[in-house]
Amino acid sequence: MRVETLRWSNNKLEMIDQRILPASFEYLIYDSASSVAEGIRSMVVRGAPAIGVAAAYGVALEALRLSSKPFGLSLSKPSPFDKLRANGNENISDADFNVGMEAGFTVLAQSRPTAVNLFWGLKRMRGVWESVKNQSNAAVAQRLLTEAHEILAEDIRINRAMGAFGAELLADGARVLTHCNAGALATAGWGTALGVFRSAAEAGKKISVIADETRPFLQGARLTAWEMVQENIPVTLITDNMAGFMMSRGEVDAVVVGTDRVASNGDVANKIGTYMVAVLARRHNIPFYVACPLSTIDMSIGSGADIPIEERSADEVKGFRDCRWAAEGVKIRNPSFDVTPAELVTALITERGVVHQPGRDKLRALFEKRQ
Ligand code: MRU
Repeated sequence: MRVETLRWSNNKLEMIDQRILPASFEYLIYDSASSVAEGIRSMVVRGAPAIGVAAAYGVALEALRLSSKPFGLSLSKPSPFDKLRANGNENISDADFNVGMEAGFTVLAQSRPTAVNLFWGLKRMRGVWESVKNQSNAAVAQRLLTEAHEILAEDIRINRAMGAFGAELLADGARVLTHCNAGALATAGWGTALGVFRSAAEAGKKISVIADETRPFLQGARLTAWEMVQENIPVTLITDNMAGFMMSRGEVDAVVVGTDRVASNGDVANKIGTYMVAVLARRHNIPFYVACPLSTIDMSIGSGADIPIEERSADEVKGFRDCRWAAEGVKIRNPSFDVTPAELVTALITERGVVHQPGRDKLRALFEKRQ
């Protein structure tokens, strides 16, 4: 099964609306940086690598829109330059194009704080933009679109490579627990943690998956369970507080999760609840693996304490969708990610190989390693 989380169609970006899965399967259409930023913020698209790819398309869409004649009107929120069209201007100057692009970068950078892939994608697109700034705006837009397509294709290749390395770590018959959704839906395709499961199954290993429900947004129950069912990989859903019980009964052979940002010392930020799973895994001598493309490693920060942790709306904890169960007036916290210290990580699975007991020197060496 090929899940196309993001796809380019009719000169627009289409993204599966992950908020309504698995009850409904629907693509939403995006045509500007601000609309893509809103898609990221509202979790239509989520998962670190998918956010990075979406942001890259957001930049390309903004360039296409700003350079189109007549000056393109967005399907969604107007950008500051939409007034130019209202004034009867069909073209914008190079200076206005540049200001519009900067506004696009800014709105995308403000969409979500934790997944470093967002900033990685924007940095890469900025580099390309800088390299072709002397060309016409239309040529710049086409070059940026080509780069976004390349980032998407590259992400799938990287996931495949990680999958192959990760599959070797799993024994035939392994029962593997995962938290959140690090699948095709969280990437351009195949997945990071779920990519490891897909690669293991493809290699003929009879693995089975235990999916943590992942309160409060239910990425495990809604998305991971859905992907594994579609893929015919045996999957059992548990609530987050059942992981310890399963481990204590000897029903978990390994844990594989994804990540939103790895600090230079190997500390791992991932979906809230991951730290709890890592502590339990250590208590029960179960290997704890993190599938992690290099684009998720942030060598600019010293430790997990420097990773910005998103706090989301209290509504997500009070209930789900229209159903509310918390007492009115109660104080609520909703940190969306936590940090697992490097010492609890058995290994990082990357596209350049497996890094056992990751630390600063090993991560530095990973970036220096020839591809
Ligand atoms: O809030 P989300 O759904 O974007 O969080 C996603 C996760 O925490 C994933 O585990 C992580 O991004 C890795 S995805 C390959």
